[in-house]
Amino acid sequence: MTKLDARYWQSRYQEGHTPWDIGYPAPALLQYVEQLEDKSISILIPGAGFGHEAAWLYDHGFSHTWICEWAPSAVESFKMRHPNFPSEQILCQDFFSLTGLYNLILEQTFFSAIDPLNREDYARKCRQLLQMDGRLAGLLFAHPFETPGPPFGATRVQYEQLFSAFFSQVSLRDCIDSIKPREGRELFLEARP
Ligand SMILES: C[S@@+](CC[C@H](N)C(=O)[O-])C[C@H]1O[C@@H](n2cnc3c(N)ncnc32)[C@H](O)[C@@H]1O
Repeated sequence: MTKLDARYWQSRYQEGHTPWDIGYPAPALLQYVEQLEDKSISILIPGAGFGHEAAWLYDHGFSHTWICEWAPSAVESFKMRHPNFPSEQILCQDFFSLTGLYNLILEQTFFSAIDPLNREDYARKCRQLLQMDGRLAGLLFAHPFETPGPPFGATRVQYEQLFSAFFSQVSLRDCIDSIKPREGRELFLEARP
């Protein structure tokens, strides 16, 4: 399988081959964060790519929003498009090397970008990075893919098994406000320590 390292992802951005990028904040994620009353919470968006949700959050008063993205071209693009976003909240590094504690980790097509062999590490790392009353929330593909990934999907049962090993409360619901091409193919995850 292709080695899914930072160099691989950087080359995708350099080639302009970024079909995962929807170009705007995902409506399902906005719907979720719009319900949050406390705008002082710290939010991490791992594998943020062009960071549309992060920019939206910051611009809407969630001033403690952080992105983690290891492809320098994606980060440079984000910085150019959002010069007001605090540079210290842009972490250009490997997600698995992050430290710190967040109230919310927001997922979109990052899980599906990592080697399935590293899924437990992903769940464990998210748990480590969350405050006791924090949560991991976001979108997951509702099915495995027939073609070799990325993206890599999974079934609801597989997600339940994976996240239940690290989180005490795991909810997975059908996403009702997916973008058109992903309609009926996404689950909304919320996991609490
Ligand atoms: C499929 S893209 C999704 C980007 C964004 N979440 C979106 O929905 O548009 C996956 C992103 O995760 C980043 N990535 C993959 N593994 C990473 C890691 N270990 N640490 C930081 N970023 C990573 C890639 O560089 C890429 O930008």
